[in-house]
Amino acid sequence: MSNNIRTELETNGFAVVEGLFSNNEVEEMKNEIRRIIKEMPSVSHRTEFSCDDSESELKRNAYFLDSIDKIGYFFETGATGPNGELLVDPEVSLNKIGHGLHEVSPVFRKYTFCNRIKDIIRELGYKEPVILQSMYIFKNPEGKRSEVMLHQDATFLYTEPQSCTGVWIALDDVTREKGCLWFAKGSHKSGVHRRYIRNPDRNAKDLFAFTAPLPDYDKSSFTPVPVTKGSCVFIHGQVVHYSETNETEESRNAYTFHIVEQNNTIYPENNWIQPKEGKTFMKLFDNRIL
Ligand code: FE2
Repeated sequence: MSNNIRTELETNGFAVVEGLFSNNEVEEMKNEIRRIIKEMPSVSHRTEFSCDDSESELKRNAYFLDSIDKIGYFFETGATGPNGELLVDPEVSLNKIGHGLHEVSPVFRKYTFCNRIKDIIRELGYKEPVILQSMYIFKNPEGKRSEVMLHQDATFLYTEPQSCTGVWIALDDVTREKGCLWFAKGSHKSGVHRRYIRNPDRNAKDLFAFTAPLPDYDKSSFTPVPVTKGSCVFIHGQVVHYSETNETEESRNAYTFHIVEQNNTIYPENNWIQPKEGKTFMKLFDNRIL
């Protein structure tokens, strides 16, 4: 199986493994996120998440960075009031929860560090892979602002040489109407188009900056990739991809995390995501379940 994954990743830039997780395991992850939502702390620990809204970007970025080893709650635009108060039910207004689920949640840790994932990542050639971040993505029903813009993961998770692989687990059946992933097959062979880095201009308002504008990608060249619940999509760091909004009334949840190599690999100091002081990114092969 892993040989096929490697071949497909090298050829297309992504690979689907149907049914990697059982219905019971998917339910366990969904129940865990319900528990985490119930434990949501006070308003000061909430932030709105939007890919294209530049307002409050500084606050959002600081909150994002602080969430790297814990649980942060990211809401759709318009879900919170001026003082952070929640205006709608969190079950339908969360954009995502992250970015340390793999570290602090026993359930997500168990599946992130499970032997199935380790075996596949090992067979992809990784020697010392680490997890940079993990996210639970809600993709709320009926087209709330949950589309994800065209991007390469390596823009945000850059190494030299490129070593990022995304692991994306469908926790519902994901159809085209529900906002499945779309890929530009083979686009991973075109290098890293831009990076998202710590702003070299220390006086600038924004903590982070793109090194180039978004290229003008031709959307007609993208392929939709619908998958069944429990399936796992492995994503090459350089493949260009995106997802539309969920236009149905049904949920379309996913759990995703990103891996990079550390062996003979440079993780630049100006990458926007850095481990917190005194900490390191968690090693996939060394860490065990809680
Ligand atoms: Fe992505």
